[in-house]
Parts: sequence; structure tokens; C-alpha cells
Amino acid sequence: MLDDFFGQLWADYTRMTPRVSSIRRRLEARGETAVNDHVAFRTLDLEPIDIANLEPIIKDLGYTRFDDYAFEAKCLNARSYIKLGCPRIFLSELRCNAFPGLKPVFESLVRGVAAPRGPEVFTTGILWPAIEHDLYLRMREATEYGAWVAALGIRPNHFTVSVNALKGFETLESLCDFVEAEGFALNTWGGRIKGSPAAGLEQASTMADHVDVEFADGRYRIPTCYYEFALRHEIDGELFDGFITSSADKIFESTRSSIP
Ligand code: NI
Repeated sequence: MLDDFFGQLWADYTRMTPRVSSIRRRLEARGETAVNDHVAFRTLDLEPIDIANLEPIIKDLGYTRFDDYAFEAKCLNARSYIKLGCPRIFLSELRCNAFPGLKPVFESLVRGVAAPRGPEVFTTGILWPAIEHDLYLRMREATEYGAWVAALGIRPNHFTVSVNALKGFETLESLCDFVEAEGFALNTWGGRIKGSPAAGLEQASTMADHVDVEFADGRYRIPTCYYEFALRHEIDGELFDGFITSSADKIFESTRSSIP
């Protein structure tokens, strides 16, 4: 069941993020196998699609909650989940109350959504009728994250290559050099590499792909998903298993249409 779940996630993700398949092929050409460190989803803090309602579905897949996170500047809550031998799951939700002007829009989106029962909620895309492109652009001014969820739904926002599992890249720096040399732009917001060995986790990511997406008034090209790279370090003899909010804060910028 879990293999099936990740297979469907991966199919959706690579359709929304064509550069992932190219990067993976180039890693494979070097004899590497890309193992996923984690997959991340975005949602809204409104029933029935808030974290509290999605968590039982993740737990039914055999996962355990590992930690809680708060991103004050981005107005997000998040939780991470672990299961031995499987990619970690990172689930965040937008605090819709922080956007009073858009709250009625978010509420109207979720109004007709049936309570999610199974993992297909993570591969269905939008669970509401497509919005108009103009509304998407207006939302993006206030919250890039909220506009992303409204236009794309609760699908994988990114998968992350475990640099620990690569054989030929000792440092995240060397992998970043390789990815850039192959022609893929990295997110340089707050520096190319976020985090540090001392913090337990170093992360980098590509900028998001731009893909044609169906809106109520036609197809428009918008930023979709990105590919992340994570190198975990030991802290007090144990590999760090969590996430670092100050780093993730900058990684979130990967779905902007351009870095400010
Ligand atoms: Ni991530």
C-alpha cells in the first residue's frame, strides 16, 4: 500500500516538475541512486483539510508524529512524521486567519470538500473548482503559499534527495555544483545552502518548474514544485531527524516566480 502511495505521489510530482526526472537521470548516469529524505505537502488550516484532519491518514500509513514547527513570518504550522525505512513526511498548513482579506476565499474553496478518508487526498490535486487566474495572482501578492495551494491542491510540493545516501558526493556543496553545472538554477534566497552541520541539517533546492495549469478561465503557466537536497549530520552521536524552521523558511521561497 505504501509503495503504491509513493508511486502515485512520484508520478504526480514528476508530471508537475519535469526537471526532477532530468536531474535524476544525470545522477543515475554517475552511478547514483536517488533516495528520498522526505516529501512535503502544503495545505490550509481549515477543516476538513487541516493538519489535524490529515494526520490520521498519515498515521494509518504507519507513520508516527516526530515534531511540531511554527513559521511565524510565513504564518504556517507544520508537523513531521517518520517511519523506519521510508521517506519522512513534512506537512504544513497556512494560518488563514492571518489573511483576513483572503479568508472568505479560502473558506469558499473548502466549503464543498468532503472529509478526506484515505491517502488519495494527497494525489487528487485541487479538491475544489479551479479558480480564475486573476484571483490566483491577487492571492500571490498576499501569500505565495496560499495561492499555490488554491491553484494546485494538496499534492507533493517537493521531494528531497538524501545526500547521505549518495556515494560520490561528500558535501552538499559538491552536489549543488553538479546540479548547477548541469544547468539547473538553485534557490539562492538566504544563500545556496541553508543550515549547517552543527544544526544537524544542510539543505538546498532548485527553483520550481513552471508548468501550464488549468484555471477557470484557461491554461496559465505558473511555478509548481521543486527538488530539494538534504545532508543530515550527527548531533551527539545520533543522526538529526528533524527540520530547522529558519532553513525551511528560505526553502519555501523556491516556489516564487523569481527570487526577490
Ligand atoms: Ni523539504
